[in-house]
Amino acid sequence: MLIKYLGHSAFEFQTKEGNILIDPFIAQNPEYTPKNISDIFVTHGHCDHLGSAVEISKAQKATITAIFELANYCEAKGGITNGVSMGGKISFPWGWALFTPAFHSSSTPEGHYAGAPAGILFEIEGTRIFHAGDTALNSEMKVIKDIYAPQIALLPIGGHYTMDIEQAVIAAEWLGVDIVIPMHYNTFPPIKANPELLKAELAANGINTVILNKNESIEF
Ligand code: NI
Ligand code: MN
Repeated sequence: MLIKYLGHSAFEFQTKEGNILIDPFIAQNPEYTPKNISDIFVTHGHCDHLGSAVEISKAQKATITAIFELANYCEAKGGITNGVSMGGKISFPWGWALFTPAFHSSSTPEGHYAGAPAGILFEIEGTRIFHAGDTALNSEMKVIKDIYAPQIALLPIGGHYTMDIEQAVIAAEWLGVDIVIPMHYNTFPPIKANPELLKAELAANGINTVILNKNESIEF
């Protein structure tokens, strides 16, 4: 599988069974055009995560998997949806996904309740990847390590609304991952961060950091 970074917290996972979008805030990435999208995952309702999910769902006949209330919102806007809650393993042709707690908030672009914010753990073609969504450091990450042992973590490092670099270093340790890909930084002034500092800190703990520029990919 291939992981492509689309900027902010948006990623495309390319699998043999189709492409998966996560938090498709692609308004900040005009060079990217969605193609062969089978699934869209949204961690929570904030605009910088919901992004163009509904429009892409309509255009690509892709299913949006999100927490129940957010899925209902997307359905009301015309998207194809799969409402879920935390803890259930949801099966797909490429593997499974499981929603985990995030310490954050979640509302629709109109400011209404959008259910709980989440992180999402994926097993795709045998690789376990954790997309933390927007979250503070939280001890659920230790439980995720104990039960699911993910190899790769996509972690917010921008601070202000989420974890910062110092906390992401602890999160990587708690999750027990081999590889961290930083996200949710430098998009807006309050979330300015230098991913090279994360890389140096994690290297001291034997964890690899893969810093992807917008539209760069890494294959696993
Ligand atoms: Ni948010
Ligand atoms: Mn955000």
